[in-house]
Amino acid sequence: MEKRANFGSKLGIILAAAGSAVGLGNVWRFPTEVGANGGAAFILIYVLCVLVLGVPLMVAEFIIGRHTHKNTADAYRQLAPGTAWVFQGYLGVFTSWFILCYYAVVAGWTLKYLMESALGEVAHISESTAYFEAFTSNPLIPLGYMAASVMMCHLVIVRGVQGGIERSSKLMMPMLLVIMFVLVATSVTMPGAESGVFFLLHPDFSKITADVVLSAMGQAFFSLSIAMGCLCTYASYFTDDAKLVKTAGSVALIDTLVAIMSGFVIFPAVFSVTGVAPDAGPGLVFITLPKVFQAAFADVPWLGAAFAFMFYLLLFLAALTSMMSIHEPPTAFLIERFRISRHTATGIVTASVIAVGTLCSLSFGPLRDVRPLFGMTFFDFFDFVSAKIFLPVGGIIIALFTGWRLDRAIITAQLTNNGTQPVPEALLKAFVFFMKWVAPIAITLIFVYELR
Ligand code: TRP
Repeated sequence: MEKRANFGSKLGIILAAAGSAVGLGNVWRFPTEVGANGGAAFILIYVLCVLVLGVPLMVAEFIIGRHTHKNTADAYRQLAPGTAWVFQGYLGVFTSWFILCYYAVVAGWTLKYLMESALGEVAHISESTAYFEAFTSNPLIPLGYMAASVMMCHLVIVRGVQGGIERSSKLMMPMLLVIMFVLVATSVTMPGAESGVFFLLHPDFSKITADVVLSAMGQAFFSLSIAMGCLCTYASYFTDDAKLVKTAGSVALIDTLVAIMSGFVIFPAVFSVTGVAPDAGPGLVFITLPKVFQAAFADVPWLGAAFAFMFYLLLFLAALTSMMSIHEPPTAFLIERFRISRHTATGIVTASVIAVGTLCSLSFGPLRDVRPLFGMTFFDFFDFVSAKIFLPVGGIIIALFTGWRLDRAIITAQLTNNGTQPVPEALLKAFVFFMKWVAPIAITLIFVYELR
């Protein structure tokens, strides 16, 4: 069996974890939610959720991962052997695999649009809705893109923690950030962009309902990658000198900035092209944006093509680094539990994800009317179950586990790096209290409300 790996540097740790957090959720889901839920008012509530719920839960996962240095399933087995808590470890591994099956489908769409924009084709799409529907409903082509994106993730994971995940995160995350800055600068200087900027900065509190608060919380969870195996698994590769609270803070900051910057890329561009509503739904990045790119740069088509290419490259990089973090928990589990090689384990996860991802992908075409599960297509079912059920349930269990079961000495040792970085006692107490009561109650509220 191979010696257990770890990340090589603190920067590597932050970039890998930020790579997990920054994903389709930031660029694809966040602007859609902002558009539908009142602009700046939603952003404010979202930031509150990140600070109050997200960061503490991320720290809890870091504690569990780094203390045990094990994959998620074995981490809970070590900390609470023979108890029902062990279930959470398996849930984490399973949820990761489950999310990957449908996340890969959207990553595949992103790859397709990246290819098309590289060839300058996005600039020529005339009927973007019809184009998108013809593509996603095709029985074969989206499968190829889905499989290709999983294979790219496979090639990283198979190279291991330092040589694969860390190295590629150190390359892709800075690239992503640079592209983001260029896009924001271009978008906000377009003629007519002010109304988009105004929309983002002007809070419409009349749109804030309980529903909106709950979507903000759900979005915060998804975007930070918390409540399942990802961050716990990554934390199991953290070095002893990494500061957990600081790392969580940096990751949350990068993640939130990227989400808000996506808003600044999308809305000014959308508003500068009249007639396109900001709340165009999930089709926003695949249907609305190609139109926007064309119209906004009608006078300088090459600039439109360059903008489109950079945008889809950004989206794909974001998707790929997140997929890596979702692929790793089941892979690490297989390697360590069944003592198989990383090669074999990665292969098993990749093959099974492509197989089940095929069902999810076909939900937009031949299997559109196959709804074996609660009247939903495979894709919708996977999305619903993981985002609305597994994530909140996982969040509640992690909080309860950290608050009620996890040894206080372990929490203290992890947060203070074995006493070398003192943390005020009051803060430790507040953290435990939060895990015992505040987080479980808050998440239960979201959960019940969403299932109504
Ligand atoms: N956070 C990623 C995004 O914003 C997706 C993701 C990666 C995720 N790992 C996760 C979501 C774990 C939930 C749980 O797209």
